[in-house]
Amino acid sequence: MHKIETRTIAPVSALRGEILVPGDKSISHRAIMFASLAEGRSRVRGLLRGEDCMSTLAAFQTMGVDVVEETSGDLLIDGRGLGGLQEPDTVLDCGNSGTTMRLMSGILSGQPFFSVLTGDQYLRRRPMGRVIEPLTAMGARISGREQSRKAPFAINGGQLQPFEYRSPVASAQVKSAILLAGMQVEGVTTVFEPHRSRDHSERMLRFFGAEVTSFDGGASVRGRASLTAREVDVPGDISSAAFFLVAGLIVPGSELLLKNVGINPTRSGIVDILQAMGGNIELLNQRELSGEPVADLLVKSSELHGIEIGGELVPRAIDEFPVVSVAAACAEGVTTISDAKELRVKETDRIAAMCDTLRSIGADIVPLDDGMRIVGGKPLQGGEVDSFGDHRIAMSMAVAALTAEAAVSIRDTGCTATSFPNFWDILADLS
Ligand code: S3P
Repeated sequence: MHKIETRTIAPVSALRGEILVPGDKSISHRAIMFASLAEGRSRVRGLLRGEDCMSTLAAFQTMGVDVVEETSGDLLIDGRGLGGLQEPDTVLDCGNSGTTMRLMSGILSGQPFFSVLTGDQYLRRRPMGRVIEPLTAMGARISGREQSRKAPFAINGGQLQPFEYRSPVASAQVKSAILLAGMQVEGVTTVFEPHRSRDHSERMLRFFGAEVTSFDGGASVRGRASLTAREVDVPGDISSAAFFLVAGLIVPGSELLLKNVGINPTRSGIVDILQAMGGNIELLNQRELSGEPVADLLVKSSELHGIEIGGELVPRAIDEFPVVSVAAACAEGVTTISDAKELRVKETDRIAAMCDTLRSIGADIVPLDDGMRIVGGKPLQGGEVDSFGDHRIAMSMAVAALTAEAAVSIRDTGCTATSFPNFWDILADLS
């Protein structure tokens, strides 16, 4: 559990400087998982030391994976191969992390032993039927709370069949869970999805030597795969950079350089959204790191205007809608976000949470069933708001506070440690 800490953020006049955001959360989880399942010792540089990724690391350590941390901060992970994990002798606690729980379900479904997954009060409320159902259809025996739709749940793995799955949701966690199960059985497993979700699993599995094909509408893997240890460089997290992209745009006179940020096209929807709103963001020094595209992002304060957001753009920016709603509240005109019902089942119901918090400091924002409608340009006031224990709500409200007319106090900010442990330090250094 994190500290229930209230922080007060005062308005600022301009933000200037260079920022190195921490490692990408999604890529860090996968680096730990695939290195643990590979043959040999992998080196991971730039891993995010957030609580979510530490939950993944602890789970593999419980299953016998040895990990050494060098003084440089690099992690050395001694993989045990696909068949080398040990049955955990205790419950695996995924904390607040949906990625840990859903991807681990896929991995554990292929392992010939018993395991139990649980999480914190927020994760135990989130839908797990979306992975449990297809994994059960592949042959895993899983039983859990609420007719096997919620954690805690127990998995008896092994003896899977290859599978062809049409996912009703564009979810990288669902897609990855099925591919990770499929990777452990002879034959080809394919997942189709309604819109393309983030493809870090596909890229990194290929990087570790698995036969994975990405195509328009989905991905497939050929099992039984064999992964070979690699050196992985984790790029900075665009979802963490997003807070400073919006801050740099809405605080007049700002100029920020965000270095070494992952710009995978399945994640870079936030850049497209903010540019479409009139934001001045330049991508500099574009390059590739361990199979992932990376750039430095230069952002300068801009006059923003409202836009309509929906369709394939939504999964490409799924974690950024809290901070997009802040940008929209500071833009001229109307922004409508639709096709984003998934926001209701994130760490919290992010549609309700952002509407409540932003409205309480003066924004004109109303919830829609599948998104929200924001009439921008009304000055934001000071006040006191709740994070609802959701890291991205806490950081979004800190960004909103930077342009408010008076200070905003945010309750329960310890949750930012799940994805961005030094967020408050970076913010304090800039302002
Ligand atoms: C993630 C996928 C997304 C995202 C989450 C991380 C991943 O979730 O919201 O923060 O690492 O695969 P969904 O798969 O539920 O869309």
